[in-house]
Amino acid sequence: MVELERQINMSQHPYKIFSAEFDAYLQQAISQLPASPKNVYEPLSYFLALGGKRIRPLLVLIAADFFNSNTQEVLPAAAAIELFHNFSLIHDDIMDNAPLRRNQATIHEKWNRDTAILSGDVLFVKAYQQLALLPANSAPAIYELFSKTAIEVCEGQQLDMDFETQAVVSIDEYIKMIRLKTAVVLAGSLKMGALCAQASKADSEYIYQVGEKLGIAFQLTDDYLDVFGKPEQVGKQTGGDIIARKKTWLWLKALERANPQQKQQLQELFLNTNIKNADKVHAVTKIYSDLNLPYFLNQEIENYYQEALSLLQKTSTQKDKAATFAAFAKSLMVRDN
Ligand code: IPE
Ligand code: IPE
Ligand code: MG
Ligand code: MG
Ligand code: MG
Repeated sequence: MVELERQINMSQHPYKIFSAEFDAYLQQAISQLPASPKNVYEPLSYFLALGGKRIRPLLVLIAADFFNSNTQEVLPAAAAIELFHNFSLIHDDIMDNAPLRRNQATIHEKWNRDTAILSGDVLFVKAYQQLALLPANSAPAIYELFSKTAIEVCEGQQLDMDFETQAVVSIDEYIKMIRLKTAVVLAGSLKMGALCAQASKADSEYIYQVGEKLGIAFQLTDDYLDVFGKPEQVGKQTGGDIIARKKTWLWLKALERANPQQKQQLQELFLNTNIKNADKVHAVTKIYSDLNLPYFLNQEIENYYQEALSLLQKTSTQKDKAATFAAFAKSLMVRDN
């Protein structure tokens, strides 16, 4: 009966049941947070209540299902990755000087920087507490993967900031940076699900590579939305990357394709500290559009997506499950938030 209900729901909204299971589990964990000290736990509850898409825990559950694991056993791993992700966003917003997240004020804006650092730290430890709940047979490998992933994210975040002031950055260096700051988390999520399910070594490796490709495409889409997304849907400051002088794919491609006049304009805009942020964002966005960059970026995203699909076919995942996932993964690439 439960199986039948699940199939019907899944055909209407793939993974709706997984999301509901995860949300209930996380909610239960959040409800157990203490009330005091108020300035540690209020920001945490505030941030977690903003939700977000919760894609990473879903990837853990999806991969576990690919290799036939019981989703209940996987929930702590899914929670660990989502808590870690939220920690990384709280700290990322400090680093990027971002005022808005999920359409609400960021923690460092609403409280202050120290509170954001500390509440972020607590979330990171909470993530490890979830890992301690995993079954003994899968725990060591997952713990190892999780730790490696967390360190890589920090490496990627540092490179992202280094690039703000590094004169020349190649697209290749940029892709390596986003692999570290973003893609390894999606890859790690899928592999954690596979490890929970005791998948073969080959399957675990291939599913990780699927996540790497999807993760790169996911960050490219994030960069696109930062400039071209609808502010109320994206929920972040429009043009935040331009204001923070991020060397995104759009910026690097613009320099590559610009005519001498546009190139000079971009360089002047980059150095100009007197121009209002809104005017700067407007001027840079116009150059991106004039250069047809959304079209080229979408091609790039599509290439990474196709690479992910080829790798998915190398896994032993059942064809129908793989097809459902392919459609879901596509929706991550054409998302509007
Ligand atoms: C934002 O991630 C940070 C990136 C790595 C691009 P998401 O777009 O998944 O953020 P939420 O959790 O849905 O808010
Ligand atoms: C963030 O990349 C990646 C991590 C949080 C590790 P971004 O800085 O582009 O993410 P957003 O746009 O603020 O969500
Ligand atoms: Mg950011
Ligand atoms: Mg950032
Ligand atoms: Mg971004």
